[in-house]
Amino acid sequence: WWQNVPIAPKDPILGVTETFMADTNPNKINLGVGSYRDEEGKPVVLQCVRKAAALIDGEFQSGESDLSLVVESVKLAYGENSDLVQETRVAGVPALSGTGACRLFAEFQRRFQPESSIYLPIPTWSNHHTIWRDALVPQRTYRYYDSESKSLHFAALMNDIKNAPERSLFLLHPCAHNPTGIDPSEEQWREISHLFKVKKHFPFFDMAYQGFATGDLQKDAKALRIFLSDGHLIGCAQSFTKNMGLSGQRVGCLSIVCADERQAIAVKSQLQHIARAMYSKPPVHGALLVSKILNDQDLKALWVHEVKGMVDRISRMRTTLHVKLEKLGSSVDWKHIVKQIGMFCYSGLKPEHVDRLTREFHIYMTYDGRLSMAGVTTANVDYLANALYEVTKS
Ligand code: LMR
Repeated sequence: WWQNVPIAPKDPILGVTETFMADTNPNKINLGVGSYRDEEGKPVVLQCVRKAAALIDGEFQSGESDLSLVVESVKLAYGENSDLVQETRVAGVPALSGTGACRLFAEFQRRFQPESSIYLPIPTWSNHHTIWRDALVPQRTYRYYDSESKSLHFAALMNDIKNAPERSLFLLHPCAHNPTGIDPSEEQWREISHLFKVKKHFPFFDMAYQGFATGDLQKDAKALRIFLSDGHLIGCAQSFTKNMGLSGQRVGCLSIVCADERQAIAVKSQLQHIARAMYSKPPVHGALLVSKILNDQDLKALWVHEVKGMVDRISRMRTTLHVKLEKLGSSVDWKHIVKQIGMFCYSGLKPEHVDRLTREFHIYMTYDGRLSMAGVTTANVDYLANALYEVTKS
């Protein structure tokens, strides 16, 4: 039956972890996947999650938590006092984390805008390409990053938005852009939102890293809120994988702001209908954990504090790595390590550098030179700085 099935290509991100796991060198470092790690390089179970787990233990897990997960997620993204939270024109469903939310939206897009494409930034999270490809939605791209100046290519971005046909769908990273670690400024977001209005484009926000850009969950939602206050109808994928450290639980939310309640009811019913045939509903345990944390003032305050702690640690590691590279006398300008934000450093390393780092130094990262700064610790930063210095010295 399956003689003709070839081996699938390795995932560019998860494949790095597989290779890392197989390496027995004691100095190995995994800077591949964007998952938070502590000072010991270990995955973290947040205190708020431990406490929430103790509270939900023994609760009747009936699936009723879904409602609260969606309401609380929407508040977190759109704002506690957003009119939309009171109104009934948001169609929201629980989703299998960010990937699941994006895939659900892509399926929905193909069904109900069958002629449309999705505009993806260059570069973007590699899985965006795969998700929309598998949902059979044609892809187009828009420029985002200027590798020369290692900054946002705002003029090119605006040009590509302007030159796209009216009523195009765009995927936007509202904060902590993956992989570049570079976000538009507030003023630039306002200009982007205005241009979207003029062109009648639809913004779909993939918010996988809320909290990781500034350490403040509210500030990180500002791009989305600018669009909302400009009256856009939007889509939003949310994930709790990174900011609650729940990668094993797959908790997320897909929401679509509709024109009115009637539309929202129809859209929600279609999202549920699509999900029903794929996986029915996401498992309830993770959804209960997140709902508990978002619903409970003390747990929420603890969570906000812990998010800040994760972000501060990453930021310290950025500074330390930068200082060490300067001390080594590296001829490369590494300022972008500290200028970029979020979990990643888009280092500018070429594939040949990545190869050498892996082969000679057992340091793992994606081929585009993206370093997950969460994998850097006080114990390995010297070794890393030295390796970066060695592979880039002319
Ligand atoms: C990443 O970019 O490393 C994360 O979003 C994790 C993933 O699933 O790819």
